[in-house]
Amino acid sequence: MINSKYIKGNQEKGLTPITSQWMQEIMSHPKVINELFTKFGSPLNILNPASFTQNCIKFKEVFESNEVKYGIFYARKANKAKAFVKQAFKENIGVDTASERELLQSLQLGGDGEHLVLTSAIKTKRQIEIAIQNNVPIVLDNDDECILVNNIAEKNNKKARVAFRLSGFHVEGSKLYSRFGFDIDKIEEYLINHVGEGKAYNNFKVEGLHFHLDGYSTQQRSEALLQCIKLTQRLKEHDFSFRFIDMGGGILINYLKHKEEWLDFDTRLEQSLKGEISPVTFNKNGLGYRLEDGIIKGERKTYPYFNEINSDKFLDKILKYSNQKGNSVASLLKKENIEIRIEPGRSLVNQSGITMAKVVHRKKDAKGQWLIGLEMNMSQMMSSSADFMLDPYVMYANLDENKTEDKSVEVYFTGAYCLERDVLLKRKVTLPKLPEIDDIVVFVNTAGYMMHFFETQAHLFELAPNLVYTETSNAVASSNFKLDADG
Ligand SMILES: Cc1ncc(COP(=O)(O)O)c(C=O)c1O
Repeated sequence: MINSKYIKGNQEKGLTPITSQWMQEIMSHPKVINELFTKFGSPLNILNPASFTQNCIKFKEVFESNEVKYGIFYARKANKAKAFVKQAFKENIGVDTASERELLQSLQLGGDGEHLVLTSAIKTKRQIEIAIQNNVPIVLDNDDECILVNNIAEKNNKKARVAFRLSGFHVEGSKLYSRFGFDIDKIEEYLINHVGEGKAYNNFKVEGLHFHLDGYSTQQRSEALLQCIKLTQRLKEHDFSFRFIDMGGGILINYLKHKEEWLDFDTRLEQSLKGEISPVTFNKNGLGYRLEDGIIKGERKTYPYFNEINSDKFLDKILKYSNQKGNSVASLLKKENIEIRIEPGRSLVNQSGITMAKVVHRKKDAKGQWLIGLEMNMSQMMSSSADFMLDPYVMYANLDENKTEDKSVEVYFTGAYCLERDVLLKRKVTLPKLPEIDDIVVFVNTAGYMMHFFETQAHLFELAPNLVYTETSNAVASSNFKLDADG
């Protein structure tokens, strides 16, 4: 008898991901999913725009409860799908674009000057032309950009809508470094001397200030906002008026269900590196830690997957932070009539995507470790940090849980690139039994930067298809959802 079942790896000592109902729904329909694999191949990315909307609503509520004027611009670099761009416009929020194609495609999908912003790290002439012709605000990063944007605006007989990106904020006695933006200590003089009627850059319509901070400190973001507000106050005397301050992205999300598991993993990682317990990572990868003379050194280079202060709470904390006089960021923004903008990427696509792949082979390496070869490669699910630390699920075609004999195995999942390091998760995963060929492995919550950001086509592999999940109310169908190609 076929006994299909999906189950999370690491039933004990795991890192249990928050897993939305829609993801469970997909995993409980192996027949539908197998048909998709037959049609589209492996791996498959599935995206759910309804989760994007839920995240969006939460941010709107925070802004509204703090009574500030606001703008939300989805940073589409987090995921390349059109579905989320369309969803952003449906929710009447904007889209932050960072390349010519991101900008053009967002315009084609209905974006306009009020709902788009161009923040690219490198801005080509073509990008700037498109932005100016479509009245899309451009976030300026350096003097060369100012020259180019001013010239292109002049040629087009238009004013370029611009914001100035800043960095170098002062927080607790140190200056925050970034390779991006103008130095906060120099921008006042720069604007006064170069920008405006009769000055070098006289084709700008200055609308805002902008920053995006590395890391995830709410305090740094609040302090940066306070410094931006002060700057706008000083610049008023020089006839500058700023409509908005954009604080970029970096709003933390919480991936994990249990804090204890997160803390416990750290302890076990250290123990395993010291050889006190068996390895918990592939070939004792320290994920940033290293063992020197019996002592653990370095720091863990992984995203902080567990966070109590996340998404809406994170944003609320930034807005409620007060300066030394006891005035909150929100109250100062309100007083100055400045709109606060954010550019969330990861936090808007939280719980909005999964990546699934087929098992192709199982083998034992010379160390006796089980390696499960998946039909996908490392670029199709790659973290910018040392590992993606969520337990995967396995959809077994055959899993009889009533069988009492213990068939549990410890495995690593490997990918198709000809690199030793194509090991999809560095963490060891314990499964109730060895997966069979064609069983399906599911990685949840991969929409933010995991599925697309590092995607490459080495070996001429096709890029993974992206399917959009929609709930349906068709009672006679075998499932209450449908999946369509992103387009
Ligand atoms: C300018 C800018 N805005 C927004 C974002 C999105 O950040 P996140 O996905 O962490 O919200 C980034 C990310 O690098 C960025 O550089």
